[in-house]
Amino acid sequence: MARFYVTTPIYYVNDAPHIGTAYTTVTADAIARWHRLIGDDVWFLTGTDEHGLKMQRAAEANGLTPKEQADRYSRRFVETWESLDISNDDFIRTTEPRHYESVSALMQAVYDNGWITLGTYEGLYCVSCEAYYTEGDLLEGGLCPVHRRPVETLAEDNYFFRLSAFEERLLAWYESDPMVVIPEIRRNEALGLVKGGLRDVSISRTSISWGVPVPWDPAHVFYVWYDALINYATAVGYGADQERFARWWPSVHHLIGKDILRFHCVYWPALCMAAGIDPPRQVAVHGFLLVGGEKMSKTALNQITPADLVPAFGVDGLRYHLLRDQAFGPDGDFSYEGMVARYNADLANNLGNLLSRVTTVVARKCGGVGPAPSSSAALAGVVADAYQAAASAWARVAPSEALEATWRIVRETNAALEAAEPWKADPGPALDAVLGDALEVLRVLAVLTSPALPRAAAEIWRRIGMPGAPGDQVLPAAASWGGYPGGLPVATGAPLFPRVAG
Ligand code: ME8
Ligand code: MG
Repeated sequence: MARFYVTTPIYYVNDAPHIGTAYTTVTADAIARWHRLIGDDVWFLTGTDEHGLKMQRAAEANGLTPKEQADRYSRRFVETWESLDISNDDFIRTTEPRHYESVSALMQAVYDNGWITLGTYEGLYCVSCEAYYTEGDLLEGGLCPVHRRPVETLAEDNYFFRLSAFEERLLAWYESDPMVVIPEIRRNEALGLVKGGLRDVSISRTSISWGVPVPWDPAHVFYVWYDALINYATAVGYGADQERFARWWPSVHHLIGKDILRFHCVYWPALCMAAGIDPPRQVAVHGFLLVGGEKMSKTALNQITPADLVPAFGVDGLRYHLLRDQAFGPDGDFSYEGMVARYNADLANNLGNLLSRVTTVVARKCGGVGPAPSSSAALAGVVADAYQAAASAWARVAPSEALEATWRIVRETNAALEAAEPWKADPGPALDAVLGDALEVLRVLAVLTSPALPRAAAEIWRRIGMPGAPGDQVLPAAASWGGYPGGLPVATGAPLFPRVAG
């Protein structure tokens, strides 16, 4: 059985969840659900990043200790992800003892392997990014390129990671497989950073205490990023359960936004190599959700949260929008109007209407008992082709393409029904064949949409009378034509996706 370990970034607890962090988390969730459907053994990790200067200051501003701030905000992430049906297997907090142990063990290995030295660092630091910048990185006026705020000059004794020694090894890693960083625009961006030359990087701080102590010199704490990245290793047992770590690590797939590409596609694989473990199997990097052309962020005061959208669109409606409308890779503009249009077209008018017209006609003309599908249906070919396209897109971390392909089935089936007009037909074998085929399509659609729309998929499954749950089926078998047995009770019900007024 293939293993699939998938991670989101661990989010900072100076901020509450919003649709940017929801985007990565929902995408990871859909990918995890897809891999469970194809029979993989899946481990899905998310969590919160709780150390660092930014956190310390946010806590001060709120009149809280850093730990109180972390507890409060971490809980909001846990609750928000639960409310969005996120199926994570673990939720890591970097303030947990297991993480301290793992960071100490991994960094000690890097130190023992000779890749860490002591030096002094003076640089321009953006507290919001928790990152140093060079002059050349800054915008006009000395502003951070991400937050457009002034950077600060910091000088301190630091331990340095000898990143510069890893250029060749990183290039070899990139050459080993075109899929280690996807999509290609992000791979090229990351390769450009490596080819542009790497400097040693500072990995510890003496100026703050809110962090994981450096095991060989406890006057220092690790710079928050060098504690944060290691969460991925902690969660599968690094330093605590080597057998478990060995089982999951070779299949680790990171999902991240492009803002943290440098950390995940340059620093992290090099640090793994320095510690003597494999670099990640894959880093999938997406663009930003923009609001009015700007990155949505706390500092820009343009955040939209899941709670703003779920009342009107439902959990599935929000998940579908994020997965379908925001292609994975480029930036995408979020607009309420766009969300309404897509929701009404794809969910209310297409999928919702398909379910309601089929179940209504079965109730009226077949006594509420679903007929079996025919064996030579034209729709069987549509389903087979769309399944192939969807499977390949999910494997490439391209949910919007996967859903695009899946909705071809919805559209073709609605078109077939409009041509056959079963609502006008008399009961009999011809009508049974049309309705049986439509029910079979709904069965397959419940399975194929379940990674994106877990609630609606379960409801479709229930209404067509199938036992069990769509998420428990196994692909590709569950997509092959003829699985709907016929003779099952079919239920009508309220619209799956009530239309939203524009
Ligand atoms: O960077 N559009 O945490 P963070 C799309 N703690 N995605 C967005 C987004 C937007 N407008 N805004 C945020 C950190 N994201 C570190 C990570 S990992 C070892 C440590 C998503 O809370 C996207 O995935 O700033 C981005 O990379 C992440 O949230 C940054 O979250
Ligand atoms: Mg950020």
